[in-house]
Amino acid sequence: MKISKNTIFIAGGTSGIGLEVALRLTDEGNKVIVGGRRLERLEEIRNSHPTIGTVGINVDDKDSIRHAYEEVTASHPDLNVLITMSGIMEPENLKTPDFLQVAERTVTTNILGTIRLVAQFIPFLSTKDSAAILTISSALAFVPLPITPTYNASKAAIHMFTESMRVQLADTSIQCIEIAPPGVRTTMMGQENSESAMPIDAFVAEVISLLKANPEAKEIVVEAAAPLRNAEINGNYDEILTMLS
Ligand SMILES: NC(=O)c1ccc[n+]([C@@H]2O[C@H](COP(=O)([O-])OP(=O)(O)OC[C@H]3O[C@@H](n4cnc5c(N)ncnc54)[C@H](OP(=O)(O)O)[C@@H]3O)[C@@H](O)[C@H]2O)c1
Repeated sequence: MKISKNTIFIAGGTSGIGLEVALRLTDEGNKVIVGGRRLERLEEIRNSHPTIGTVGINVDDKDSIRHAYEEVTASHPDLNVLITMSGIMEPENLKTPDFLQVAERTVTTNILGTIRLVAQFIPFLSTKDSAAILTISSALAFVPLPITPTYNASKAAIHMFTESMRVQLADTSIQCIEIAPPGVRTTMMGQENSESAMPIDAFVAEVISLLKANPEAKEIVVEAAAPLRNAEINGNYDEILTMLS
C-alpha cells in the first residue's frame, strides 16, 4: 500500500488506535474519514481536526453500514482504502450464564461487523486502480488471554478471514493487510495507563514505518506483538499462555 495520496475510511476511528491512525495518515498526505457510533466524538473530531471527515456508523447494523458507505463514497468518490478498526473487548466468565451476552455482542461487532464492512466496500474498491483493505486482528489471535475467550476467538476469525480474502482478491486491485496489535494503551479493557501495553503514538508510528518499509506487506506485526504472533513457531506457546493466565 502506498503511504500517501489515498482516501481512507476508518470504521472505528473515533478514539484509541483508530483516531491516532487517522491523525498520522493525515500527516502523511492522505484524506481520512473516520466513523463510529458516538456522534459527540465525531463532532469533537470535526472541531479539532477540520481536515478529517466524519460519518456516523454502527457496524452492528447492516443498514447503518450501507448508509455510511453511501455517504462516504458520494462525498469521496476517490475512496480507495478501508480500515476495519471497530471492535470491542469485554471479560467473560464462562461459569456464569450472562457471559453469552458479551459473547454475542463481541461476535456481532468484531466478526460480523468486519465481514459486513468488507462485503459492502469490495465492489466499490475493486473499481479503483490501487486499493487496500486493512483488517485489525490482535496478538491475542495467536495466544489467547483466557479472561476474554470470545474476543480472542473473534480476532483469530479476523486473521483467517483476511488470509482467505487475500487469496480470493489476488486478481483484483485490492491489497489485504492485517494489523495484529499487541496490548496498546487505550481505554479498551481499561489499559490506558498499563505499563505492559504500548503507548498509542509509539504503536502507530511503528505501524506506519512498517507500511512504508514494505508496501507489499500482508501482516503488520510490531516488535512487541512478535512474541505472541510467533509463539507456536518459537515453541513457547504453553509458556506464554501460562503467563497470560
Ligand atoms: N488496545 C489494544 O490493546 C488492542 C490490541 C489488539 C487489537 N486491538 C483492536 O484495535 C481496535 C481499536 O481498539 P482500541 O484499543 O483503539 O479501542 P477503542 O478506543 O475502544 O476503539 C474502538 C473503536 O471501535 C468503535 N466501535 C466499537 N463498536 C462499534 C460499532 N458497533 N460500530 C462502529 N464502531 C464501533 C469505537 O467507536 P464508537 O464507540 O464511537 O462507536 C471506537 O472508535 C479494535 O478492533 C481492537 O480490538 C486493540
